[in-house]
Amino acid sequence: MEKLVIEGGRALNGSIVASGAKNSALPLLVAAALAEEESLLENVPHDTDVDVMCAILKALGASVRADGPGRLRVSGAGLTQAQAPYELVRRMRASFYVAGLLLGRLGRAVVALPGGCSIGSRPVDYHIKGFEALGAKVSLEHGFMKAEAPRLTGSKYYVSRASVGATINTMLAAVLAKGTTILENAAREPEVVDVANFLNTMGARIKGAGMDVIRIEGVKKLHGAEHEIIPDRIEAGSYLILGAMTGGEVTVVNAMGEHLRALLSSLEAIGVAVEETTTAVRVKKKEPLAPLNVVTQPYPGFPTDLQAPLAVLLTQADGVSTLRETIFDGRFKYVDELRRMGADVKVERDTAIITGPAKLTGAPVEATDLRGGMALVIAALAAEGRSEVSGLEHIDRGYEHLSAKLQALGAKVERIRV
Ligand code: EPZ
Repeated sequence: MEKLVIEGGRALNGSIVASGAKNSALPLLVAAALAEEESLLENVPHDTDVDVMCAILKALGASVRADGPGRLRVSGAGLTQAQAPYELVRRMRASFYVAGLLLGRLGRAVVALPGGCSIGSRPVDYHIKGFEALGAKVSLEHGFMKAEAPRLTGSKYYVSRASVGATINTMLAAVLAKGTTILENAAREPEVVDVANFLNTMGARIKGAGMDVIRIEGVKKLHGAEHEIIPDRIEAGSYLILGAMTGGEVTVVNAMGEHLRALLSSLEAIGVAVEETTTAVRVKKKEPLAPLNVVTQPYPGFPTDLQAPLAVLLTQADGVSTLRETIFDGRFKYVDELRRMGADVKVERDTAIITGPAKLTGAPVEATDLRGGMALVIAALAAEGRSEVSGLEHIDRGYEHLSAKLQALGAKVERIRV
C-alpha cells in the first residue's frame, strides 16, 4: 500500500501542463479498435484506467502497443473474441464501451454488467436501450449482458438524462450500422466531440457532436487514423482549484478555457482572479473569498467531477455555500474525511452545506473515489501540518504524475510505501 505524505500550508506557485483527457482516452482506445488498420493516439494519459482498457482490448484480440511517451498504436485486426473478461471489466465501468465495439464489429457482445460504484448506483440501462434501438437482441444473464445483431440498423434514439456513456456507446455501435442513426438529447461533453472527431477521421460520418442531436450515417468500414487527445478539463480544473486555494499564482498550460467555463465563472464569482490565454489558464488567490451556490449539471453546466474539489475551496469562503449534486447519488463520501480536517460541511439529501472560512489542519485521511480523493489532496495541501492520504489507487485512476506535478508547484509531497 502507498500513501501520500503532505506537509501542508505552503503557498504554491508555478505552472504544470494538463495531461490528455482520461474520459476521452478510454472510448478513443475502443474506437480505434473498430478498424482493422492501425491508428495512432497521441497525448494518452498514463493512468490505471487507461492500463485496464488496454488490457481488455488485448484480451479481445485487438493489438495495443506503446510508441513513445503518450503515444499508443491500436488496431482491431485481430478482434475475434466477443466476451470481455469479467476480472478486468469489473475494475472499471468505462469498460462497458467495448459492448458498442463488439456489437459493431462482430455482431455479438458478452460483457459483464458493471456493479455499483463508489459514487453511486450507475446502471447501464440507457446503453442497453441504445443497442436495442439499433436492433440488437439483448438479454441479461448471470451478471452478463448478451447482445446480438448480425448487422445493426440505424434508428432514432432519445438518450435519457443526456448520458455521456450511453451517447458514446451508441455512437460506437452506430458508426458501422446500416443506415442512419439519430441520437436525441445526446450528451454535449467535449469528450463526446473528441470521440466523434476521431471516428470521422477514421471515415465515419457523424454530424452534430457537441449539440443535443447527433446524426450518424453508417459506413461499411473504418480505416486507421491519427488523433491527439484533448486536454483533461477535470484534471486542469482540479489544479486550478488547488491554485485558487493555496496560490500564489498557478498556471495550467494546455487548459482549454472554453471547456472550463462553468468552473472559471464560479471561481470569478467567489473572487479568484482568472486569466486566460489561448494556451493556458492562470489563477491567483485572493482573500476573502465569497460564498457560492452551485448545482452540478451535464455539460456545459458545472461538472459533477469537480464538485468535491470545489467543496474544499468553498470551506475557505466567508459565509455559507451550497453544492447540489444532481448527477450521481453517492458523491459526498469524502465529506466525513474533510470534516476530520476541520471543515464545517453538512450534507442534507443531495446538497452539501459548507460554512467558512474554516481552519483546516492536517490529518490521516482515506480516499474512497477518484475526485473525492483529489479533493482530500487539495485540502491536505492547504491544511496546516502533516497529512497522510491513503486510498491512492482511486486517485491513480485519473491523475498521472500527481506527486511530480504537485512538487513542480512547490508542494512538499512524498509518496511512500507502507
Ligand atoms: C461519465 O460517466 C464520466 N466517466 C464520469 O467521470 C462523469 O462523472 C460522468 O460522465 C458525468 O459527466 C467517463 O467518461 C468514463 P453518465 P458516465 O452516463 O458516462 C445515470 C470521473 O470522475 N445513468 O452521463 O457513466 C447515471 O447513474 C468520472 O472521471 C443511468 O441511470 O455518466 C448518472 O446518474 C466518474 N443509466 C447519469 O445517468 C445508464 O445507463 C449520468 O451518467 C447510464 C447513466
